[in-house]
Amino acid sequence: MRVLVTGGTGYIGSTAVDILISQGYEISILDDCSMGHADSVPAGVSFIKGSLLNAGDLAQALVGVDAVMHFAGKSLVGESVEKPDLYHQVNVNGSRNLLDQMHMSGVTKLVFSSSAATYGEPKVVPIVETAPTHPTNPYGATKLAIDQMITAESASRGIAAASLRYFNVAGALKSTRGWLAERHNPETHLIPNVLRSTAENPVKIFGSDWPTADGTCIRDYVHVVDLIDAHIKALESLQMGVHEIYNLGSGDGYSVREVVAAASKATGYEIPTIDSPRRAGDPAVLIADINKAKTKLGWRPTRDIETMVADTLASFS
Ligand SMILES: NC(=O)c1ccc[n+]([C@@H]2O[C@H](COP(=O)([O-])OP(=O)(O)OC[C@H]3O[C@@H](n4cnc5c(N)ncnc54)[C@H](O)[C@@H]3O)[C@@H](O)[C@H]2O)c1
Repeated sequence: MRVLVTGGTGYIGSTAVDILISQGYEISILDDCSMGHADSVPAGVSFIKGSLLNAGDLAQALVGVDAVMHFAGKSLVGESVEKPDLYHQVNVNGSRNLLDQMHMSGVTKLVFSSSAATYGEPKVVPIVETAPTHPTNPYGATKLAIDQMITAESASRGIAAASLRYFNVAGALKSTRGWLAERHNPETHLIPNVLRSTAENPVKIFGSDWPTADGTCIRDYVHVVDLIDAHIKALESLQMGVHEIYNLGSGDGYSVREVVAAASKATGYEIPTIDSPRRAGDPAVLIADINKAKTKLGWRPTRDIETMVADTLASFS
């Protein structure tokens, strides 16, 4: 089976490319490299350096393809607040273009990178897939709009699709070409930022007065390798005319201070931190209910927070 990986030079997409190849899939990549890195593309893999916003690039990338894993898009929450139109253009219009070109090319299978940001501030935790969706920022709103577009597409054009709502993705994969890891600029994710914290530039803890045991926010982390395992299981279980939505996390939460403690243990020194005010729109606790992915996909995350921290740290060397 040939899989088109959009965003295949980014953090999660490049990891997917590596694991898919190791499992015998043929790969094509479409990425404009606005955030990704062309040096992650394995030798011999079909790579179109192009955009979701260009129909010709999409048509070229879809040649000979049986299924799409759609990771490409913009994903910085803060930037989405400053530039909501850009997020709508790339994420929503780009995904619309992809669906239209898939239809024209006769490609009917899709696995999409959605997000926990679709839920917004949860009333009940752990969060189930049927929970209300009230995104609190434009990024989450674009992911919800795409999910809804895919639901409509599966009903009207009969495509087989799955939206995977990731919570916090972390960790790295050691490939034969070296570590595939987060190389975001700016980096907004906690684990790499904690590991890069210095006395001169300590990592900020946004809010230490949340209603949690240690006063810091609690989030659910999933290792990128476990995440891709879920993608492959989702791909293999797609059904025509059906759009499934799955949460992907660990089902457990870690406070910011617990993540810092795990990082201090891994580095062997105390990570410097600085308490800062809460950020607007940050919920206190986000934990996934992952029972649907467990029962319907037979998926189990197996890598814990210590492994996510250790792999990220190893990827720096
Ligand atoms: N990292 C997380 O914790 C997390 C959580 C929830 C959802 N997601 C989603 O997962 C996906 C991958 O995330 P990531 O962390 O690997 O991000 P990333 O920024 O590393 O990868 C996204 C890739 O998309 C490419 N891209 C952007 N705009 C494009 C366009 N117009 N045409 C073609 N390519 C384009 C970028 O160059 C980049 O390589 C994103 O859709 C993101 O919203 C990530």
